Amino acid sequence: MAKSLTLNTGAKIPVIGFGTGTALYGKDATQLVRLALDTGITHFDGAQMYNNEDTLGAGIKASGKPRGELFVTTKLNVLAPGESVKDSLKASLVKLGLEYVDLFLIHDPTKAKGDLAKWWVGMEEVYREGLAKAIGVSNFKVEDLNVVLESGTVVPAANQIEFHPYVWKAAEPLINLCKEQGIAIESYGGLSPIVRAPGGPLDPVIAAIRERLEETSGAPVSTGQVLTKWIFQKGAVAVTTSSKAERIQEFLAVENLPDLTSKEIDAIEEAGSKLHKRVFMRHVFGE
Ligand SMILES: NC(=O)c1ccc[n+]([C@@H]2O[C@H](COP(=O)([O-])OP(=O)(O)OC[C@H]3O[C@@H](n4cnc5c(N)ncnc54)[C@H](OP(=O)(O)O)[C@@H]3O)[C@@H](O)[C@H]2O)c1
Repeated sequence: MAKSLTLNTGAKIPVIGFGTGTALYGKDATQLVRLALDTGITHFDGAQMYNNEDTLGAGIKASGKPRGELFVTTKLNVLAPGESVKDSLKASLVKLGLEYVDLFLIHDPTKAKGDLAKWWVGMEEVYREGLAKAIGVSNFKVEDLNVVLESGTVVPAANQIEFHPYVWKAAEPLINLCKEQGIAIESYGGLSPIVRAPGGPLDPVIAAIRERLEETSGAPVSTGQVLTKWIFQKGAVAVTTSSKAERIQEFLAVENLPDLTSKEIDAIEEAGSKLHKRVFMRHVFGE
């Protein structure tokens, strides 16, 4: 079972989450969710937008794992005219076959079209009623967070954002605000430097660290594990996904790898700062 971070609600969130978006977007996630559960994953990241909450729920149900051992997130997409946040979450819970989610996020602040403060009131309602054990946000920039922080009474528990060394520098003000406010960072797209933007200035740095970790630990280490270790050492949760049991085991094994040294962390961030490469968050990075 993966280690956990403590959210500002006091609840624990396992540091590795298995996502049912990106590679599984709009697809039946049942088998891969089962695979992930059987491999030791307990944290699942779903969303209304992924249009597969029912199959996330089916995978969970088929595993027979006790609900209390799992951490399940879903995300609010849009509200239909006259629909409340509570109506929307209740519809998700029916699809998931669950009585509550552990974390409910506003997926994308731009979808609220000026109604962010109003949406947050609805989020607070589902939190108070226990339909969501924690509430948070995703793809929020500083200005979006300030709307919620200034108008709301509950501080978001998490901000799930694109987070890897090629956006690290641009994301720093946002990360600092989250830290100040006790908002956990969940990283998605964390493997982008090797999966979506290979050949950049990070490659030789990550390769050298991978070799060093292999020598120190006496076991094979992958470049994906090096990036995931960096995410953990920045204090973030890593939301990733894979169709392969070996890769899921790799993610779970990251916490047992020796720590990156402060010199290695600096080298990753210095190399990362040489290339700004956003894959997902145009709204936040504004280019
Ligand atoms: N909130 C949001 O707006 C938002 C946006 C995007 C994603 N997310 C969440 O984050 C989850 C993970 O997102 P992500 O896909 O961006 O995560 P990621 O960790 O950056 O990438 C995972 C993908 O990389 C592939 N991969 C891993 N190692 C590889 C290697 N060495 N070579 C080639 N491919 C490799 C995996 O494929 P294999 O099957 O081959 O292992 C998998 O498809 C999503 O499912 C979703 O839940 C949220």
